[in-house]
Amino acid sequence: MKNKYKIALVAIVTSAIAGTAFAQFARPDAAIKYRKAVFTVMGTHNARLGAVAKGEVPFNKDEVIRNAYIVNTMASLPWQAFGSGTEGGDALPAIWSEASKFKSAQEKLIAATASLSSAANSGDLEAVKKATANVGAACKNCHDDFKKK
Ligand code: HEC
Repeated sequence: MKNKYKIALVAIVTSAIAGTAFAQFARPDAAIKYRKAVFTVMGTHNARLGAVAKGEVPFNKDEVIRNAYIVNTMASLPWQAFGSGTEGGDALPAIWSEASKFKSAQEKLIAATASLSSAANSGDLEAVKKATANVGAACKNCHDDFKKK
């Protein structure tokens, strides 16, 4: 099961990298669908970590590692789908008019999810809680400026 998951993710990541190289979205609505799908997967697995951090779900190291791995992998994917001409969805125009600020909000998330992965691998619940809070702050930081409410 775990391996199947990894193979599926490798396939997603590989096609995502190919997508970057070939500017692969045929139409803007395909790009919007892609980024929303990535955010949905990222949000789902991030919420599972949030439930552990809040003590609603018992701490299981393997599950936490798996969820952190998915969140960290997803964190690098949506951005290729915000090319010019892909305005729409819940994306605010500031994404394109303040591109460097948007980019730095992405980098904050990517750094936070990398730390989350390390915290998960450490098996230390307190470290996981802290890292989860930092990831949540990075999500909110970007949504406040760049996503419709
Ligand atoms: C750098 C900016 C940025 C960061 C960081 C970010 N998001 Fe988002 N998120 C967006 C934007 C922009 C949209 C709207 C996309 C659209 O509608 O096209 C969005 C949409 C979403 C959606 C809705 C998807 C849908 O189906 O409409 C979810 C869920 C979500 N984000 C979760 C998260 C979570 C969880 C994190 C942190 C782990 C996060 N996001 C981090 C910019 C960001």
